[in-house]
Amino acid sequence: MRVVDIIQKKKRGEAITENEINFIVQGYVNEEIPDYQMSAFLMAVYFKGMNKKEIADLTLAFVESGDRNDLSAIHGVKVDKHSSGGVGDKLSLVIIPLVASVGVPVAKMSGRGLGHTGGTIDKLEAIEGFKTVLDRETFINNVNNYKMAIVGQSANLTPADKKIYALRDVTATVDSIPLIASSIMSKKIASGADCIVLDVKVGSGAFMKSIDEAVELARTMVEIGKSLNKKTIAVVTDMNQPLGHEVGNANEVKEAIEILKGNGSEDETTIALTLASYMTVLGGAFKDFDTAYQELRRIIKSGKAVEKFKELLSIQGGNPEVVNDPNILPQSKYHIEIKSSESGYVSAIDAESIGITAMLLGAGREKKDDPIDFSAGVTMVKKVGDKVNPGDVLCILHTNLEDRQKAGQIAKGAYSFSLQKPEPGKYIHEVIQ
Ligand code: URA
Repeated sequence: MRVVDIIQKKKRGEAITENEINFIVQGYVNEEIPDYQMSAFLMAVYFKGMNKKEIADLTLAFVESGDRNDLSAIHGVKVDKHSSGGVGDKLSLVIIPLVASVGVPVAKMSGRGLGHTGGTIDKLEAIEGFKTVLDRETFINNVNNYKMAIVGQSANLTPADKKIYALRDVTATVDSIPLIASSIMSKKIASGADCIVLDVKVGSGAFMKSIDEAVELARTMVEIGKSLNKKTIAVVTDMNQPLGHEVGNANEVKEAIEILKGNGSEDETTIALTLASYMTVLGGAFKDFDTAYQELRRIIKSGKAVEKFKELLSIQGGNPEVVNDPNILPQSKYHIEIKSSESGYVSAIDAESIGITAMLLGAGREKKDDPIDFSAGVTMVKKVGDKVNPGDVLCILHTNLEDRQKAGQIAKGAYSFSLQKPEPGKYIHEVIQ
């Protein structure tokens, strides 16, 4: 078999076989196939696409390149959740204790932030003492005893995806549906859960900019799940402005605690309850979505959900006092108000620009190994639909950096205004199951 023939076939738009997919993926991981040939192959996939069988084969080739998590020692139906990446997305912090509070086991592996998007593991590490590395026995015991555990992704999970994703990032081949779908689903399959709920983001802060594209990605991933006997539900949710009011790390933890206490903003509360409801139905705790939604809302109101979060902190070494006093979380030295020069209504906020602002303030990473300042971030004072007058504060930048001029300009430029109040947008666009 020759790589050049496989590239040639894909370039002509023909389907490639399972053997050919395994050959090119394994060859690349083993460094027998150079970056330039893999880049040409990825670009051919970008333009010519892949059929369902090819996408499922590519997903499995990624899974087989590394370890598979064995969760068979955990009792019950294990349900995992994944977000395709957004700005201000702290929902895993809310969903893990919420789902665990009704007895559905959550054995979660999460990632770190990169570029304009944040990562759950970084947010949790903003809490003093919280351990994001657990030995296997502790991880399994915690899920069996407390129904929840969260760790960073293990080093040898889907190494082929890791290597190919890094190449996609520098060859303009990230935003390809077959490549995103196989990348995300391979990690979920290798993580070992029985059922998967996907939060597919759409809008200015997401990879998928249109609803049609997001729905196609969602359908593709649900089909991969089904073909591999994993019940999968995808919820297409809005990312046309940052979620909630906080973007960063420590400030997102603070906001997640407020959601768990029942004081969250409507967008975050609705999306968190929707995802958690599908997870608990798949996990067998409730007979249908509506019952789950009402019951989970009641659990938040009763204070049980935030108590469960406190328990998560205690069992993983974090200081549970942050729930009573979030001000003990890291705080930055400077808080800079960005003020409006316009009057009217906020008509849009470019989520990606706010993500980049947070990154420049120290809250995120441009490169994989960059350090993070947990106290840095952005508070969104005004959101889409809010009325503004000149001089009103649009957002507040939190940082320890002296030089934040560029960040301030990007944050201000993220806002658009209109004279008419915009129609309220939807939080949930579609559910595919
Ligand atoms: N997230 C992933 O894990 N992979 C992609 O390709 C895109 C988003």
